[in-house]
Amino acid sequence: MVAHRVVSLTRQVPDLEAASRFYTQFGLEQTGPGVFGTVLGGDQLFLKVGPRPLIENIVVGVDSEQDIEDITSRIEKLGVAVTIEGPARSAIEPVTGLLFTFVVAERLPSDPVEEKRTSADRRDLVPRHAVRPLRLGHVVIGCHDVEAAKVFFIDGIGMRLSDYVTGGPFMRFETDHHNLVLVPAPMTLLHHTAWKVRNIDEIGFGGSQMIENHPERHAWGLGRHAASANYFWYLKDPAGAFAEYYYSEMDELADGPTFWDPVPESEGLPVAVWASPPLVDKPLVPEAMPAPILTADSQ
Ligand SMILES: [Fe+2]
Repeated sequence: MVAHRVVSLTRQVPDLEAASRFYTQFGLEQTGPGVFGTVLGGDQLFLKVGPRPLIENIVVGVDSEQDIEDITSRIEKLGVAVTIEGPARSAIEPVTGLLFTFVVAERLPSDPVEEKRTSADRRDLVPRHAVRPLRLGHVVIGCHDVEAAKVFFIDGIGMRLSDYVTGGPFMRFETDHHNLVLVPAPMTLLHHTAWKVRNIDEIGFGGSQMIENHPERHAWGLGRHAASANYFWYLKDPAGAFAEYYYSEMDELADGPTFWDPVPESEGLPVAVWASPPLVDKPLVPEAMPAPILTADSQ
């Protein structure tokens, strides 16, 4: 077996209070100073104060100690050093310089399945409870050489390639279409984290709540991606990266293609099959990135 999920992400933010406010309102549960949890995944986001918005660590979950040993030997074969920290192993991906830690982690329960409505009841719509993301679905990393960095994830961790979109490899552990994505960028950066919610209604409701009184948070959405077929709404956090609400009923990619061919030749897919027009020219360019790469009109 290979790794099965991103357990957590630790990142530095210049203003911890502002970032904490953002992610609390986004629907993550603050369980400690700078610690934020999801409904299914527990504590998945760790924020620390730092001068620049850096990723400090990404923790990847595997099923067993044998999996850790297997990943260790594959990574070492790539010439990358692996350090031992108790039962965990860590390695720095040499192209991005990012620290990845491998731990044995329980598998998450399945995402709840929406029950079909049998009647229309307006009381179901208002008032609404706060949106609570189910789990961290994927992390998108800006990288100056995505092909060189891809080797660590595919040959080292054992991830599988699902698609290429705008020059970036979309890689998965198992049935989600993608869990880690590399997008071309002049430097290593956190492009966005994506948090799964229960349905498209929660994306719309959550996004609307986030931009009410905070129009500067709006990046791009509501829309639907092509490669992964998920619905999305991107919001800009106070540290310059994006947080995405997403939902897809087509996460079950399993071991074969279902609605698309998960191969590199899929390059050319539009970023979105439909989306509301973005308010700015380059809605998905992080503040840390001087050159635009992922844009609504780069399709
Ligand atoms: Fe995403």
